[in-house]
Amino acid sequence: MKLKIEDVSFTYPTGQIGVSDINLEFRGGEVSAILGSNGSGKTTLILISAGLIKPQKGNVTFNGEKLEKLGSKFRSICGFLFQHPEDQLIEPLVWEDIALGPKQNGFSGGELEEKVLMAAERIGIKHLLNRRTHRLSEGEKKKVAIAGLLAIEPRILILDEPIAGLDLKGEEKVIEIIEEFRERGSIVVFTTQSSDLTAALADKVILLSKGKTVAEAETSRIIFRSDLLVSIGVKPLKNIWSYPLKTKIS
Ligand SMILES: Nc1ncnc2c1ncn2[C@@H]1O[C@H](COP(=O)(O)OP(=O)(O)OP(=O)(O)O)[C@@H](O)[C@H]1O
Ligand SMILES: [Mg+2]
Repeated sequence: MKLKIEDVSFTYPTGQIGVSDINLEFRGGEVSAILGSNGSGKTTLILISAGLIKPQKGNVTFNGEKLEKLGSKFRSICGFLFQHPEDQLIEPLVWEDIALGPKQNGFSGGELEEKVLMAAERIGIKHLLNRRTHRLSEGEKKKVAIAGLLAIEPRILILDEPIAGLDLKGEEKVIEIIEEFRERGSIVVFTTQSSDLTAALADKVILLSKGKTVAEAETSRIIFRSDLLVSIGVKPLKNIWSYPLKTKIS
């Protein structure tokens, strides 16, 4: 399973450059982190990777086929978490919102209910199922949005700032979920400002600055380079020896 980004550039209608000349490959069983400062192009890049915005230049392909050609086939296997849950949540009630994806994939009745429950339980929000979506706290909304992704049981997980605004348990659950997806051989890509999360989770890091790739390598080759991280406005690791990295400094 391979998601490939080739020579991709995107400029917003205002003339603002989102990303330019990006070449990347995301593989099944691999967790990739996109790390960069505010405005570096993380959201733009991840929206393009999920086929949610179309680059003016270049291509995104999944197993060799262009995303626009795959259309709903790709959407049904790709779970995308928006940076701001307001962009994701549509339905007035939490359980209805989580049910939306599996409904679109053809599930109904008991099977649908089971999927909603499973997803809500996985991220710890069963107690919120009958609440009004727009009356939830920011962190609760983010968890509902994550449950919505889990409910479609995607093979590809693309997450824009998955832990931003989450409490300790929420963060731990997101980490567990990402690890589960890696074990299942899924493609996982997330954006973050956190070197710590990247060190704990990612197999590969893409450093973005001003819409361009500054570095792309195995996590252990990048994450200890505080000078490089600081130079692009990313906070370095808090304590480099406290991270359960699979591979220490190489
Ligand atoms: N809708 C838009 N219209 C015009 N310019 C935009 C739009 N969205 C983003 N930009 C600009 O594109 C560039 C990349 O923005 P992007 O949202 O991808 O950054 P980011 O790395 O996700 O930032 P953050 O860490 O704040 O989420 C920035 O200069 C931003 O101001
Ligand atoms: Mg962003």
